[in-house]
Amino acid sequence: MKEDQNRFILRGQTLAFSGNPFEVGADDAVDYRQDGAVVVEGGRIIAVGAATDILKQNTGAPVTNYSDALIMAGFIDSHTHYPQLDIIGSCSQGLVDWLQKHTFPCEAQFSDKAIADNSAEFFLDQCFLNGVTTASVYCTVHSQSVMSFFEAATRRNVCMAAGKVCMDSNSSPDLADTAQSAYDQSKALIERWHGKGRNRYAITPRFALTSSPNQLEALGSLWGENPTALMQTHLSETKDEIARVLGQYPTYDSYYQIYESFGLAGEGAIFGHGIYLSDDERRAISESGAAIAHCPTSNAFMGSGIFNLDVTRRAAPDVLISLASDVGAGVSFSMFATMRAAYEAARFHGVVLHPAEAFWMATCAGAKAMRLNDRLGNLTPGMDADLVVLDLKSNPLIARRVAHAENFIDVLFAQIIMADERAIKATYVAGNIVHQRAHT
Ligand code: GUN
Ligand code: ZN
Repeated sequence: MKEDQNRFILRGQTLAFSGNPFEVGADDAVDYRQDGAVVVEGGRIIAVGAATDILKQNTGAPVTNYSDALIMAGFIDSHTHYPQLDIIGSCSQGLVDWLQKHTFPCEAQFSDKAIADNSAEFFLDQCFLNGVTTASVYCTVHSQSVMSFFEAATRRNVCMAAGKVCMDSNSSPDLADTAQSAYDQSKALIERWHGKGRNRYAITPRFALTSSPNQLEALGSLWGENPTALMQTHLSETKDEIARVLGQYPTYDSYYQIYESFGLAGEGAIFGHGIYLSDDERRAISESGAAIAHCPTSNAFMGSGIFNLDVTRRAAPDVLISLASDVGAGVSFSMFATMRAAYEAARFHGVVLHPAEAFWMATCAGAKAMRLNDRLGNLTPGMDADLVVLDLKSNPLIARRVAHAENFIDVLFAQIIMADERAIKATYVAGNIVHQRAHT
């Protein structure tokens, strides 16, 4: 290869996915190298391979040696709320109580641009600290909350999707918009931010309970006019919510059908939760190409229910299921905590979530849900160099377990069960280090 001054090499263990572990099986999906290397140039991955080969082909390029740490694609959090940082871990009697008591008053503060600016910066810091390099983010009803978020994301050259929350029903007066203002403001924000640099816009009706039919219709039209934007909303998170939604939309047979009928379904749609879907809804989501964002720490903390990955996949084998923190109903930015909770949720339903499946959901599936899988989510030449370097022995207990691991899958399992942000040795965004763990 030609020498280039911007080219550099990261050497360590490497993890990539050569396939979807749910389709090809975990063993065939994992592409693991014990002594691997990644070549980065101009913010992109240009080669991945055995360290000896890569070093021979790139003489002169500086090498960062991560020895036995693991280099992989950055984590992707496919459903989270940046304005809810200040209410994480707030006690409630369930979703609607939590929204009214904690969430709406917190989000009302975002009429103050300084609060939005500060939260956006803190949120992105937390993402990087946890190795999250891309997320699909809910802002608040205030357009300027989206401005603050994309301004912060742009300064950091990080690939984020975000959108103004639209809500014209059942919300507090200081948070209500209308069908028209939701359309107009979302349209203006799409024009300002979507596809600008690494930013992506997500049209964001909060959920059917807080949107009138007119508002859902307006947002469906907006998506039709801007088909490359994403669409994100909540779906079937609690039984109480479903009863209320169907009470508000009495002519519909199912919750999902409401979104579908207003043109809010299809590839690029990300439905948060989806715990209580019928098999017909699961199949319809799968056929449409939309994704379900599984938010297990949120579901457990809120007492919403336990998502059944196995039953969902049996009804709709090809349905795309990504992982998400759902901060601040979710209680952690850490994708280890999220994978751990997903593993536990699967166990409650009697099945095992294989570590390869969990890591795939936290990377490749998120990228696919966000229609970014040609650019992000895997350690593949041509993709953006959004990377995380994991210390696989980040505390004495993990180190002890890893010393007894029979294979690499055991090592991944130990991370899911025991790791936290101390395992994030470094986070790279477009080839730049954005977080490096302090020496301990
Ligand atoms: N449903 C509607 N809004 C929200 C929210 O902010 N968080 C969660 N978890 N569910 C919701
Ligand atoms: Zn949410």
